[in-house]
Amino acid sequence: MVTNSMNEAVQSPLSRWDELIGAIAAEVGTPFWLYDTAVIERQVRKLQSFDTLRFAQKANSNLAILKVMRRNGVLVDAVSIGEVDRAMAAGYALGGDPAEIVFTADLISRETLERLAALRIPVNCGSIDMIAQIGRVSPGHPVWLRLNPGFGHGHSAKTNTGGPLSKHGIWHTELPDALAAVEACGAHLVGLHMHIGSGAEYSHLARVAEAMVECAKGLARPIEAISAGGGLSVQYAPGDAEIDSQRYFSIWDEARKRLSDRWGTLVRLEIEPGRFLVANAGQLVAEVRAVKSVDGNVFVLLDAGFSDLMRPMAYGSFHHIRFVTSQGAPVRGAPVPVAVAGPLCESGDVFTQEEGGRVVFRTLPVPAVGDFAVIEDAGAYGASMSSNYNSRPLIPEVMIDGGAVTLIRRRQSIQELLQLEDPSILSIPHGLRE
Ligand code: LLP
Repeated sequence: MVTNSMNEAVQSPLSRWDELIGAIAAEVGTPFWLYDTAVIERQVRKLQSFDTLRFAQKANSNLAILKVMRRNGVLVDAVSIGEVDRAMAAGYALGGDPAEIVFTADLISRETLERLAALRIPVNCGSIDMIAQIGRVSPGHPVWLRLNPGFGHGHSAKTNTGGPLSKHGIWHTELPDALAAVEACGAHLVGLHMHIGSGAEYSHLARVAEAMVECAKGLARPIEAISAGGGLSVQYAPGDAEIDSQRYFSIWDEARKRLSDRWGTLVRLEIEPGRFLVANAGQLVAEVRAVKSVDGNVFVLLDAGFSDLMRPMAYGSFHHIRFVTSQGAPVRGAPVPVAVAGPLCESGDVFTQEEGGRVVFRTLPVPAVGDFAVIEDAGAYGASMSSNYNSRPLIPEVMIDGGAVTLIRRRQSIQELLQLEDPSILSIPHGLRE
């Protein structure tokens, strides 16, 4: 049995709400997501040195969360038309200097192209094809170039967004061709962008900033801005480093100053984190529904699975887990090795696993059926990556904002899922009928 002793976590800021868990569960049922905006606002303040803080909403795109970002002066990045619509629904305006909404992708579908052109939302282009496509339909369209500097970094191979095996960005040696494409279609180049995956290694970061300066030097004229992308790490497990935001800023500020000095113009510095702003601000709360011994191995089974939080299953990500009683007190008792798993009809539905799928055991007190399991640091890529696998409806999201506890997404119903397949509303385009 592989045991994992990393469960002695730093106290989660959300544990102060444990007493409310029973009451919230009685209202909305389990499982549910619980967010605390105070943690988001704390994280926002840490990045205030950057000229522009842009939230990568893929991490958590709930409208209420976007509104919290907006009221704190945080701009937004969108990676799909759905995310553009969300940003607008949350009150982000079109236009602005800097633009309130930027669209980042490596390709644009036809429908997306039309909408982005009509809305004139700046497009951060990860391929040369994109530049030509947007430039053709929208003359003078504002564009960024997302560059792959030739190397990357990530908490898993699946989140490494640089280097020759990454599909993201324009390969650095193709920059002259990208600039020629910008020129040819008369697009307006706003800035250069690099997002190469997450990590808290400052030597690596300095290399990225250096690559940015080198690429920018190849430009014929000054640009308005550079973007450091996202990827700022947070603490999931004890011993994980949270990024030193001032040090992070200094490295990028120095790069920006070199370009400003070179061109004699002010170059704006953007940063585009997702996880850093929301990961520690959210947790998944589930009910313990069974505790069983499998050849001596203790499995604690919850009513939440990887259809809700898929990070452990996708990347072997560590999330601290604690058990609380219905009164919100920590479950006590002699800690033993336990695996924590979900209800899905799939063996990989285990929250305590390493990358590659090996089940690991954590040393925890054994809860009883009816206690709650709190899976921490799940505010980023939790709800936003959930699915309807096993025909499980999406679960509610609850936000604590100051003194107010608000339901910010209700539970989806099975009827809503079935409606999409209702034969009476389905029609095949006319030409295909014969
Ligand atoms: N900007 C761009 C262009 C990105 O591709 C990403 C993330 C971000 C910003 C924000 O990265 P962050 O600061 O959140 O690390 N599902 C994975 C993470 C995928 C990240 C994809 N791109 C996870 O759960 O860890």
